[in-house]
Amino acid sequence: MRAVAVYPGKANSVHLAEMAKPSVTDAPDGRGVLVRVLSVGVDGTDKEINAAEYGAAPDGFNFLVVGHESFGQVEEVGPNVTELAPGDYVVAMVRRPGFSIYDQIGLQDMTTDDTYFERGINLRHGYLAEYYADAADYLIKIPGGLKHVGVLLEPMTVVEKGIAQAYEIQRRLKVWRPRKAAVMGAGTIGLLAALVLRLRGLEVTVFSRDRKPNRNAELIEMTGAKYVSVQDTTILDGARQYGPFDLIFEATGFSPVVFEGMQALAKNGVLVLSSITGGDRKVEIPADRINLDFVLGNKVMVGTVNAARENFEEGVRDMAMAEAQYSGWLSRLLTHPIKGLENYEILFQALLNGNGAIKVYCEVADVA
Ligand code: BGC
Ligand code: ZN
Repeated sequence: MRAVAVYPGKANSVHLAEMAKPSVTDAPDGRGVLVRVLSVGVDGTDKEINAAEYGAAPDGFNFLVVGHESFGQVEEVGPNVTELAPGDYVVAMVRRPGFSIYDQIGLQDMTTDDTYFERGINLRHGYLAEYYADAADYLIKIPGGLKHVGVLLEPMTVVEKGIAQAYEIQRRLKVWRPRKAAVMGAGTIGLLAALVLRLRGLEVTVFSRDRKPNRNAELIEMTGAKYVSVQDTTILDGARQYGPFDLIFEATGFSPVVFEGMQALAKNGVLVLSSITGGDRKVEIPADRINLDFVLGNKVMVGTVNAARENFEEGVRDMAMAEAQYSGWLSRLLTHPIKGLENYEILFQALLNGNGAIKVYCEVADVA
């Protein structure tokens, strides 16, 4: 079968690879599932992998099949799979267990190991291929009514985990009643964070660079959230006008924003950090002031990466809620469909150009 792969360590090496079709017997204990891939999204991580800044091939291979945002249809199941059947739509989780105690209880997203096993990213082949096989334990069933937006589930889970972590942490307060939230960044993750926080009933302000009017601002306002361009209003002024914020979700990819977020946070508030910033940026900050307010205000800051099974399941429910409440909204994120694995160059070009893209994805096969 055909797959889209890179040679890790070699920049711009994305190419079409030929490999054996996987089989249900690839997973142990009769728990294997063979999935026909329908669509696969790409994001900043894929960009970094193709730039040879990140990523590693599985043992015994000199290439890595990319793609971690999957959506597909079950073709065949092993004898001990009862929860899925041929024809079901599924999305696969990304990280696989390593060795820490968290990995052993299914929370590999919380691993303390230094090595991650992530399909399409590090040491495990991804999903940008005609087929993949995996144990049923790592697959999440998608109701047919969401098949047109299923490819958005993996990015959605990054948001779900961050917000679930915030609520879990805030149980320390016994009566936490968050009213105001801020989202930093209006990219795919920022948009989905605004959506999920609106579905939780919070007043949401999204801070982003570009001035209105623009499509992302429009989408944000469709959810009832407010959009603020930092070219007109700084985060700190915005916090004075629309905050203080009980919950802040940072998703700009620009680390200096973190320290402004710390200052925009309400007493007892929680700041969730999700940007993966590989650089080496340095900034000057009002350290005493930030520290003092954090201490006197009992504030929390938490980093979040990847997602656990329950975050995928919550993501499915929120996508269904979104379709019910903001009908058609999710589909509007699917801005750049690229048809066919053979068009991998156009796919990565669209990812690189970025202009106007919310979600760039490959339509590997027609969604039946
Ligand atoms: C993926 C996560 C992954 C992270 C770090 C993100 O792009 O969505 O699943 O854990 O990269 O590799
Ligand atoms: Zn990703």
